[in-house]
Amino acid sequence: AKETIISPSLLSCDFSRLADELKALEEAGLKWAHLDVMDGKFVPNITFGPPVIKSMRKECNLFFDCHLMIEQPERYIDEFCDAGADLLCIHAESTVHLERAVAAIAEKGVKPAIALNPATPLESIKYLIPQLHMVLIMSVNPGFGGQKYIPFCTQKVRDLRAMIDEMGADTLIQLDGGVTMENCRELVEAGADVLVSGSAFFKYPPYAERHKLFLETCAG
Ligand code: DX5
Ligand code: ZN
Repeated sequence: AKETIISPSLLSCDFSRLADELKALEEAGLKWAHLDVMDGKFVPNITFGPPVIKSMRKECNLFFDCHLMIEQPERYIDEFCDAGADLLCIHAESTVHLERAVAAIAEKGVKPAIALNPATPLESIKYLIPQLHMVLIMSVNPGFGGQKYIPFCTQKVRDLRAMIDEMGADTLIQLDGGVTMENCRELVEAGADVLVSGSAFFKYPPYAERHKLFLETCAG
């Protein structure tokens, strides 16, 4: 079986020490960093945008997994790509012209992904799957770290796994929200390839140990 990717969500770290945290993740052997962009409109919280990502880009070579929780993300695709995103994930609920936005991301040479809120059906992105590097299943209502996992999302991951396999696509499945040491194995068994972890990761340094424990727990 292929190894699960852990993508630590920087939302749970101290924003005044972003450069140190990125270096610490890299030294601990992590490959991905999950960057949560919030606009105070699509979600009731505000974080950071392209200028901060551009500054972070200079500090590490981690794969920047950028999760945009903003209205009409098509307005900012070029800026996020130019700031140094490796993958740009936009919400299906945030734009009317999803296919056009996905194509614009790919056009910039960045990996396109789509996120779905817990209640949004998989059908809404079915025909886009062959164009997507990844689908993000939100397992909390987006906006804040440290929330409780919504149980029906496990079945949603299973259904998406079946859909992707049936199409013969190699699209990754990411799960974001309320991932813990207690539920990570079940989520990987359901078909998740990438697990985002904020509070369950950053609260428990050293990061190399935490990463190792997550991988061992996921593998069973
Ligand atoms: C929530 C964000 C998540 C969040 C996850 O809106 O998209 O990435 O940081 O945090 P935890 O792992 O604490 O639920
Ligand atoms: Zn996120």
